[in-house]
Amino acid sequence: MNSKNKPLHLLNGLTPAQFLAEYWQKKPLLIKNAIPNFTGLLSPNELAGLACEDEVQSRIVKYKNGKWIADHGPFNDDDFAKLTDKPTQENNWTLLVQSVNHHLPKGAALLQLFDFIPHARLDDLMVSYAPNGGGVGPHFDSYDVFLLQGQGKRLWRISEQTDLRLVEGAPLRILQNFDTTQEWLVEAGDLLYLPPHLAHWGIAVTDNGVDCMTYSIGFRAPKNQELATEFLGFMQDQLNQDQIVLDGIYQDADLRLQEHAAEIGKEMIAKVSANLQKIQWSDELVAEFLGSYLSEPKADVIFEANKKLSLRAFTEKFANAGIALDLKSQMLFFGDKFYLNGETVSFTGESKNILVTLADKRHLEATLISDALLQKQLYDWYIAGYLKF
Ligand code: SIN
Ligand code: CO
Repeated sequence: MNSKNKPLHLLNGLTPAQFLAEYWQKKPLLIKNAIPNFTGLLSPNELAGLACEDEVQSRIVKYKNGKWIADHGPFNDDDFAKLTDKPTQENNWTLLVQSVNHHLPKGAALLQLFDFIPHARLDDLMVSYAPNGGGVGPHFDSYDVFLLQGQGKRLWRISEQTDLRLVEGAPLRILQNFDTTQEWLVEAGDLLYLPPHLAHWGIAVTDNGVDCMTYSIGFRAPKNQELATEFLGFMQDQLNQDQIVLDGIYQDADLRLQEHAAEIGKEMIAKVSANLQKIQWSDELVAEFLGSYLSEPKADVIFEANKKLSLRAFTEKFANAGIALDLKSQMLFFGDKFYLNGETVSFTGESKNILVTLADKRHLEATLISDALLQKQLYDWYIAGYLKF
C-alpha cells in the first residue's frame, strides 16, 4: 500500500486514494473546517502590495451597472483608491492575484498539503480579495480547483446545468444562465473541491467587518491539441539533434512512367508515408517530453542568478543549512531523469534518491554530499537561481 494513503483531516477523513476514486474530476466535495484555525496567509493590504509588483500577475474584476470589466496589474495606490467604497450587488469588484506561491513561502507550503495530486498537474495558488458582494460571477473553469476560504465568508453556489453558454463580448467567462443546484456559506478553513466544467458562483460575504479572501489551489490540464503540438516540436528537436535517425535518402529505382510529370505519384506518397512511420517514440521519450515541457517556467517567470559563491563555500553552507527549491522552481522526475525548470539531468543510486527527495519535498535537509557530480549540479542550479538557502 502507498505509504501516503492515510486518512486526511484535510479530506474529511478520506484517504487520498478514496478522494481520487470518488471525487477527483467527478463531483464536488465540501469539507467544513478542513484546515482548523486557518484564516489566511496574508492581509488584504499585503495582497494589494503584491498586485502592485511588476512580476506578479493580477487582475481587478469589476461589475458595474450590469457590465463586467477586467483590468490587469500591476496596479498602484490610485487604482485601489478609485474602487467603490460601498459595494452593492450591482456595483462591486474583486482583486485576484495569481501564483502567490511564487512569492510567499507560506503559499508554497500550503500547496504541499495537496501533494496527493502529482506536481505535474499543479498550476498555482491564486488569492482573491473582495468586499461584500464581490466575485467573478457565475462561470466554469476547465481545471480542477480546491477553494480554501481564508478570512471572511463566501457564499458558493454550484449548478449541475449543462447549458454552458457564455455572455458574448465579456472580458471574462460569465455564464448566460445560472440555475443554483446547491449553495453553501463557507467560512475560514472550509474547503470546496470543484471538478472541471462544473458551473459555480462565489459571492463574497463580509463577516463582522472582515472582507472575504479565498485561496484557489488550481490544477492544470493541458489541452490534448496543445500537448500534441508541443510534442511534435520536441520530436523535431530530437530529429534535428540526431536523437532520432532515419537512415538513407529517397530512392525510386522502381520509378514507372507517369502520365503527368507534375503529379505527385502514389508510389512516392507510399514511400514517404512508410518512411515517416519509422518515427516512433517510447514511453521514456514521452516522459522526457513531459518532464521538460511541464517543468518549463511560465513566460513571465524570471530567476535571479545568485551572487557568486565558490563551490566549496556552497558545499559547506549546504552541509550546515540544507537547501530548497526556489519558490518559482518546478521539478519533476521519471526514472533516473530529473527535470528542473525545463532542463534535464540524470543521476542514479544514492544521488538519485537525494534528488527524488528534493523534487517531492522541495527541500533537502543539511547533508554532506559525497557525489562530486551531484555537488556540482546542485551548485550550478544554485548559481542559476533555481535553488536557495
Ligand atoms: C474567487 O476567488 O473569487 C474566484 C474563484 C473561482 O471561482 O474560481
Ligand atoms: Co472558478
